Amino acid sequence: MAKKLYIKTYGCQMNVYDSERIAEVLAPLGYEATDQSAGADMVILNTCHIRERAAEKVYSELGRLRKHKNAMAAEGRHMVLAVTGCVAQAEGEEVLSRAPYVDIVFGPQTYHRLPQMIAEASRASGQVLDTEFPEESKFDGLPQARTVNGAAAFLTIQEGCDKFCTYCVVPYTRGAEFSRAATDVLSEARNLVAAGAQEITFLGQNVNSYHGEAPGGSAHGSEWNLARLIREAAQIDGLARIRFTTSYPAEVDDDLIAAHGDVEKLMPYLHLPVQSGSDRVLKAMNRNHGVDEYRRLVDKLRKARPDIALSSDFIVGFPGENDADFRATLKLVEEVSFIQAYSFKYSPRPGTPAAMMDLQIDEAVKSERLAELQALLNTQTQNFNNQMIGKTVPVLLDRTGKMAGQLIGRSPYMQAVVVDAPQNLMNCIVDVTIDAASPNSLMGTLNLDSRKACA
Ligand code: 5AD
Ligand code: SF4
Repeated sequence: MAKKLYIKTYGCQMNVYDSERIAEVLAPLGYEATDQSAGADMVILNTCHIRERAAEKVYSELGRLRKHKNAMAAEGRHMVLAVTGCVAQAEGEEVLSRAPYVDIVFGPQTYHRLPQMIAEASRASGQVLDTEFPEESKFDGLPQARTVNGAAAFLTIQEGCDKFCTYCVVPYTRGAEFSRAATDVLSEARNLVAAGAQEITFLGQNVNSYHGEAPGGSAHGSEWNLARLIREAAQIDGLARIRFTTSYPAEVDDDLIAAHGDVEKLMPYLHLPVQSGSDRVLKAMNRNHGVDEYRRLVDKLRKARPDIALSSDFIVGFPGENDADFRATLKLVEEVSFIQAYSFKYSPRPGTPAAMMDLQIDEAVKSERLAELQALLNTQTQNFNNQMIGKTVPVLLDRTGKMAGQLIGRSPYMQAVVVDAPQNLMNCIVDVTIDAASPNSLMGTLNLDSRKACA
């Protein structure tokens, strides 16, 4: 009988990708996905460490799961409870001691070994910890064939971070930068397309620092950059759209800018976190780019692809940020105009350099600044969405809407577009004329006979 697998995923798209791959690793063992943790034979929390009190939230979720585990034990059944992701990597042993009913703690780099871990946990009826950064790459131990939920898929091409921004835990949890070989990426991309993907988003903590081994092997000594990888992926028949995230501004090279200009399948949307509009703050953050460099980069991108839409991340209230620094951030936002953004109050992460810096900013000041910045960013999003009214855009429909008869998809600029459309257009790219815009989505009318490509 099939065993039930429940995976709860927190955080970024890289975790979403990992959760999909974890399910693929467990499928040959008879595990099938369920959307309920109660009664599941295996429950995995794929955690994120980036937000405040992330670990505490994981422990309270584990407390809830313990009740399900006990209820199953009373019926003579066993729930394997596992924790992975960045909290698992960072806390390791601590999870096993604070939550002794957890069976397995594994890091984002070791899940190809999960079948052995499960066997070990059941044999010894003890706890298993595997948060190594192993010599072998997990990618070599994962199943080749891919399963795809819907027409838009993620593909991790790069992991880890060597940048050490002073506020960030990622370099400590995801380890050093690593790029997958180009051949492996392209073969996974083909497998995704064969399984129905029409859009692929290349993922990496610093995706544009990608420098994977070129086809033919390292004997040739050559490497491909992200632009080259995108150009080759664009040759795959049946792949309609390519995206990538997240980019590190200091490493966006001219090849990548040029690719935005001439690779038609590369979507005109770029998430390019700037964090602050003050050189002083950027320096303290160790970001390796100044405000002018960021502006120049945006100009070059817009020259190459005039309709490119930009989104960004911001941190307000970084240690030492004064009012003038904050005003400089608002000024940059005014100048660049972002169609979408994530903005956060700085919050200290234990072990990072910024947590030890003097001049930590008052919470009330952080809240005020955040509210002011978000008001501006929201206006920009709404303005951009309003500008779409009356325009016709291609939309890849990949979800059902809240109302019967509705489908939802993404515009080239990542906006969610809701449209009345028959179910058989699911996973198709269709033209939609936009009728109305809200801050979070667009509503439109399907252009009959505009069906372009379906999975
Ligand atoms: N405090 C606030 N925001 C943070 N981010 C990362 N670390 C912190 C922190 N300590 C934000 C950055 C990053 C995004 C993913 O999360 O803006 O780009
Ligand atoms: Fe964190 Fe900076 Fe690396 Fe991004 S580039 S993951 S913000 S250290």
